[in-house]
Amino acid sequence: MTDPGLPPAHTPFITLEGVEGCGKSTQARLLADCLTAHRHTVDQTREPGGTPLAEAIRNLVLSGGDDPMPPESELLLYLAARRDHVVRRIQPALAAGKWVICDRFSDATIAYQAFGRKLDRSWVERLTGEAAGIVPHLTLWLDLPIKTGLQRVAERGDANRFDQEKIPFHERVRAGYNHLAAHYPDRIVTVDARGCVAQVHQQIVNVINQHLSHYLNDPLSALAIE
Ligand code: TMP
Repeated sequence: MTDPGLPPAHTPFITLEGVEGCGKSTQARLLADCLTAHRHTVDQTREPGGTPLAEAIRNLVLSGGDDPMPPESELLLYLAARRDHVVRRIQPALAAGKWVICDRFSDATIAYQAFGRKLDRSWVERLTGEAAGIVPHLTLWLDLPIKTGLQRVAERGDANRFDQEKIPFHERVRAGYNHLAAHYPDRIVTVDARGCVAQVHQQIVNVINQHLSHYLNDPLSALAIE
């Protein structure tokens, strides 16, 4: 991915990434609650989504159908949603001194559209870098075996169009994230997402304390989870 530079922020922009069923939405919420409990101001958001326009695009792109759109159209819809989200929500939140925690961002586009859908990687990377215009300070890559993730999604019973893709697609997505993690070791930290909610939350708190200590007054302590 091209690096258009970090946002000039005094608070960090953190993203969570992972394959389906990895638990990142729960973990994003717990991290936001944990930071709030430590008196930080947080804006927790998600992609695709986070603004009215981007949420409308989310409905469009995630609703299934018998006549799937071309992967290029899908890519451009994700990027249109992202641009709106960055300009209208993420950058203003960082400028206002909020920690921004985002469930998925540009790495998802590389993993899903380039590796999963097999679109030309350098083209996807260029467009993605330009559309986002910012790079997260820290990305938590919640890794777990594909079968475990899809089992969790099946138990939840809320599969979307991507959850219904075949195993090889998800394996390519996972390989894409592993590739990105190896390529950007300073930014992307792999978290073992096989454990229970409390164990994964504890790992994430440890990563924040280690990698973002300069943004913290005191180290975070993990929330107590029953
Ligand atoms: P999620 O909210 O459950 O993570 O669902 C979002 C879906 O959208 C997920 O299957 C991954 C997919 N996605 C992409 O394919 N490309 C992207 O750039 C983003 C942000 C998400």
